[in-house]
Amino acid sequence: MTVTIVGSQLGDEGKGRVVDLYGDAADVVVRYQGGDNAGHTVVEDGTEYKLSLVPSGVIRGKVGVLGNGCVINPETLFSEIDALRERGLEPDVRLARRAHVILPYHRVLDGIEEEAKSDSDRKVGTTGRGIGPTYEDKAGRRGIRIGDLLTPELLREKLEYVVPQKRALAENVFGVETGEAFDIDALYEQYKAYGERMKEDNMTVNAGDFISSRLDDGEEAIFEGAQGTIIDIDHGNYPYVTSSNPTAGGAATGTGLSPGVVGGGEVVGIVKAYLTRVGSGPLPTELGGVAGDTPGYDEQGTGENEDLAEYIREKGGEYGTVTGRPRRVGWLDMPMLRHAARVSGFTGIAVNHLDVLAGLDELNVGHSYELDGEEIFTMPATTERWGRCEPNFKTFEGWPEVNWNEVVEEGYDAIPENTRAYLDYISDELGAPVYAVGVGPGREETIVLTNPLE
Ligand code: IMP
Repeated sequence: MTVTIVGSQLGDEGKGRVVDLYGDAADVVVRYQGGDNAGHTVVEDGTEYKLSLVPSGVIRGKVGVLGNGCVINPETLFSEIDALRERGLEPDVRLARRAHVILPYHRVLDGIEEEAKSDSDRKVGTTGRGIGPTYEDKAGRRGIRIGDLLTPELLREKLEYVVPQKRALAENVFGVETGEAFDIDALYEQYKAYGERMKEDNMTVNAGDFISSRLDDGEEAIFEGAQGTIIDIDHGNYPYVTSSNPTAGGAATGTGLSPGVVGGGEVVGIVKAYLTRVGSGPLPTELGGVAGDTPGYDEQGTGENEDLAEYIREKGGEYGTVTGRPRRVGWLDMPMLRHAARVSGFTGIAVNHLDVLAGLDELNVGHSYELDGEEIFTMPATTERWGRCEPNFKTFEGWPEVNWNEVVEEGYDAIPENTRAYLDYISDELGAPVYAVGVGPGREETIVLTNPLE
């Protein structure tokens, strides 16, 4: 049985908590796309672990797989593994031989290109981890894969082909001087050594074979998506997207299992009870704004509903895990969620951060959009049209601050009535039952109605 976890909005929906909760009953936790652009904090027995690449399940002794759809920075990988070992854990991490490798020049080029766009609204606001440039090389058939690190001659040959191109791009197109990150000999020595370590530690696998043989043995797997639907390269708001497919289709292409296996299991959409966004791009239900990120918004503190945005941002701790940047905040956006549910086929949803909205007299949900005089119920395909959408709000009565720990103990029926009305609305609109409700930052602050693996 497989459970695929998909972010239904713009990332940061609290996927880690659900992976964590369901992960107890899983044997294998697989990431199917992205790289060290993700970031999550896991607290286990009072110890805090910050991970951006290694699947969090390894902390609980599960096998963690980075599937072929991932881009792997070996430096991050080994520093995370070493940090876990120093804390007495023995992480079992397997790497798809088909996964692509992030090299230092990818990170440099990511920064150079963002800098080149910095004076325009073309800037994406990437995490600077080299994600886009690595996927570009994958699509351009010049990428270096994990399997190549295991054969030094092959690695050398590929570096000799690709590095001069990268150097020319940096120097001749962008006019930036290059250094060690573009030095073939240095890269060869460093990445050959990573390959040796991967070999010695028996880390590399043919991911599809590896996972499917475990499923055949009756084991349970979680496929963990990073980021979210609206930053999916195909289904998100291009070009303000990451360069991979966080949606459920990515779980098939990024693991080596068939769509039938993924679709035959559960696909759980993770929903934040409101909306946040890091970086630029439209956000029709936005409250307030963040200068430098919100299009056309230059001065902090001048937007409509600024106080409300600030209240939610502070209460929800809505600051980037990696960069510390304030996140943009908005009301829940149903056209966005309907699009996400269709793309991934949610069999259930988990709704997080309901406690953050407690104490408001009333709250809004963007139920539909108005675009060119027409009411529409799902997101337009182009970002330009999406940017012109005006939300039609549906207003809900607020719910009080309650003792959420008690609610967790007592279960779903103890959730305030108005909160349940809000949950029922989301569930009805998406045609998917509520599997879990998050009412606080800790993983124990969750009401689990359904755990597909138990
Ligand atoms: P990249 O993935 O670093 O190329 O960044 C592309 C876009 O995806 C930017 O808008 C990032 O802020 C966003 N992004 C990437 N990873 C995450 C994440 O884990 N959470 C939220 N946004 C992300």
